Amino acid sequence: MNHAKIHLKSAGLLLAGALILPFLAGTTVAGAAGLTPDDCLKCHEKAPLDIANHGAAHQTEVTCVECHAGHAPIDANNIPQCSQCHEGTPHYELDNCLSCHTNPHTPLIISIDSNLTQPCLTCHTDQMAQLQQHESKHTQVSCSTCHRAQHGMIPDCMQCHSPHSKEMTQEDCLSCHKPHMPLQVSYPAETPSSSCASCHGDVLNQLQGNPAKHATLSCATCHQEQHKMIPQCVSCHGEPHPEVMHKNFPQCGQCHGLAHDLNK
Ligand code: HEC
Ligand code: HEC
Ligand code: HEC
Ligand code: HEC
Ligand code: HEC
Ligand code: HEC
Ligand code: HEC
Ligand code: HEC
Ligand code: HEC
Ligand code: HEC
Ligand code: HEC
Ligand code: HEC
Repeated sequence: MNHAKIHLKSAGLLLAGALILPFLAGTTVAGAAGLTPDDCLKCHEKAPLDIANHGAAHQTEVTCVECHAGHAPIDANNIPQCSQCHEGTPHYELDNCLSCHTNPHTPLIISIDSNLTQPCLTCHTDQMAQLQQHESKHTQVSCSTCHRAQHGMIPDCMQCHSPHSKEMTQEDCLSCHKPHMPLQVSYPAETPSSSCASCHGDVLNQLQGNPAKHATLSCATCHQEQHKMIPQCVSCHGEPHPEVMHKNFPQCGQCHGLAHDLNK
């Protein structure tokens, strides 16, 4: 990197127009290494503007001339390699940095288009661990099938799936499914019975058709947290009758029938 910041005496003249640059090649531009970042502005518009708007650390931590040492025509190639300054982590071993960091002057505007998984794993490992430990059809699609276009974009489930019932929102989906382990269905206590009824409509009808007080309880009050969990009557009621009666009739259902359809 060249930190020299010698102003060319003739900078004003030199910078009057790009067209005269070649004529001055042998003389003034020999001092191209002496150009300062302020000089670049006089001939280049886009790069300085990009940096001013979205330069991030490439605005605050480096200057134009630390990346672009020299200038055409004296120095034919003044385009730096990223590895000049970034090396030593798996992320910096990836191929083709500019495929994601499409513009080095706006390094944090990152475009994600093709089918990517491996490059994401240079930073995110938890999600892959979940996808692999809980095999599902999501394990077979790449990260960027879902997280595409801009880095950090969160997809809506409904881009690829129909909801179980019309009124369900993305927030509902995430209350039961985790996207990186979608078959491990678990849900909070406040889950409305209507969500369960989108698949178990018959159970809701049965429950609501019964006059017993269970009809006032939500599905999730009894079937707590994990899908397919079956509660024990005694976990809520204990053994309310005389001991001898429970001994003789060990199943509550022998007298009470089904939880959804109590014989009161
Ligand atoms: C007097 C006008 C002028 C000034 C000042 C100037 N440039 Fe340039 N620059 C040009 C022109 C004209 C080209 C196109 C040259 C070519 O393609 O051979 C160019 C090309 C470039 C390129 C592209 C090289 C390539 O291989 O594609 C870079 C990078 C660059 N300039 C950076 C800078 C930086 C950094 C500064 C300030 C330190 C600067 N320029 C100052 C006129 C200027
Ligand atoms: C962190 C390093 C870095 C900094 C800082 C940087 N550039 Fe660049 N610049 C690059 C790289 C890398 C390329 C080549 C991009 C490509 O191949 O698409 C480039 C390309 C260019 C080009 C040619 C392509 C274009 O966009 O027109 C110009 C001109 C240029 N830079 C000017 C500047 C100026 C002026 C500054 C300061 C305001 C600057 N650069 C700051 C790395 C940098
Ligand atoms: C001349 C040195 C230099 C070059 C060449 C360079 N960078 Fe940087 N870059 C830096 C410095 C210094 C930082 C800030 C410290 C850090 O994050 O390592 C930085 C930061 C970054 C950041 C994080 C920005 C932020 O604000 O957090 C990204 C992304 C990045 N560089 C990408 C690239 C890519 C891609 C290339 C090649 C096209 C490249 N850099 C070339 C010096 C450079
Ligand atoms: C698959 C896309 C992709 C590729 C290819 C890629 N990057 Fe990145 N890079 C990212 C993403 C995403 C971030 C995270 C940005 C953030 O923190 O918001 C990042 C962050 C960075 C950072 C800043 C933070 C850090 O952890 O270091 C630097 C520097 C960087 N990349 C340099 C490079 C270099 C150099 C290359 C090529 C060797 C490269 N990147 C290739 C996507 C990519
Ligand atoms: C260089 C490291 C790096 C790489 C590579 C990287 N990320 Fe990230 N990612 C981060 C960091 C740091 C954050 C948190 C900061 C932020 O939100 O930008 C993040 C955040 C995210 C988020 C969450 C955004 C939110 O709103 O919570 C998603 C989704 C994401 N990355 C997906 C990906 C995907 C998919 C890839 C591969 C295409 C990838 N990342 C590559 C560093 C990286
Ligand atoms: C980019 C598309 C996409 C998005 C977004 C998406 N999925 Fe999927 N999902 C799929 C594909 C493809 C399958 C496999 C479908 C098949 O083979 O029938 C699948 C399957 C599933 C399965 C069944 C898994 C199995 O192994 O049988 C569940 C559950 C699921 N998705 C839930 C969700 C939820 C919840 C969301 C939102 C958090 C979501 N998906 C977002 C593409 C997507
Ligand atoms: C089927 C679509 C899908 C796939 C495939 C997928 N994700 Fe996600 N991801 C999501 C959704 C949806 C969220 C939002 C979760 C939330 O808000 O609770 C998310 C959240 C994230 C987050 C934010 C933090 C977190 O864990 O909630 C990161 C980081 C992330 N994903 C990275 C990845 C990576 C890396 C891969 C590939 C190994 C990947 N994702 C595969 C849909 C997916
Ligand atoms: C109340 C909890 C709950 C909510 C809310 C929920 N799901 Fe499900 N989902 C399940 C259960 C349970 C299964 C069945 C699992 C099984 O077959 O064992 C399932 C299965 C799926 C499947 C696999 C194919 C199928 O239809 O059987 C997909 C895809 C799916 N859900 C997507 C979604 C989406 C998208 C949303 C949001 C609109 C959503 N789910 C909301 C509990 C829920
Ligand atoms: C996407 C559809 C779907 C949703 C939504 C759904 N389930 Fe299920 N549920 C199923 C399927 C499929 C089975 C397996 C049926 C079978 O084995 O006959 C099942 C089975 C069950 C079982 C019985 C397990 C057993 O051992 O027989 C219970 C209990 C259950 N679900 C409760 C719930 C509750 C509570 C909710 C709401 C929080 C819910 N389900 C939401 C599809 C769903
Ligand atoms: C998650 C807790 C829970 C579970 C599990 C549960 N119940 Fe209940 N049950 C209740 C609540 C709460 C009431 C209403 C009490 C009240 O309002 O006085 C109730 C009421 C009853 C009543 C009185 C009905 C009425 O209308 O007066 C009977 C009988 C009963 N339960 C039997 C059972 C049986 C049998 C089982 C197992 C098949 C069972 N319960 C499982 C919570 C539970
Ligand atoms: C009072 C607690 C309680 C409530 C409320 C409750 N269940 Fe159950 N459920 C049970 C018990 C206990 C069983 C085991 C069978 C039995 O003893 O009646 C069961 C069995 C099931 C089964 C498997 C057998 C069958 O009948 O298909 C499904 C599915 C089910 N419940 C879904 C639901 C749904 C959906 C709701 C809400 C509409 C719900 N349950 C409300 C306690 C309850
Ligand atoms: C031999 C038949 C029988 C068996 C077995 C039985 N019960 Fe009962 N249970 C009854 C009768 C009859 C009543 C109504 C008595 C009354 O109104 O005082 C009753 C009432 C109840 C009530 C309502 C009490 C109230 O104060 O309103 C609950 C709760 C209850 N039983 C729970 C259970 C549980 C839990 C089991 C299993 C551990 C069980 N029962 C087993 C016959 C039985």
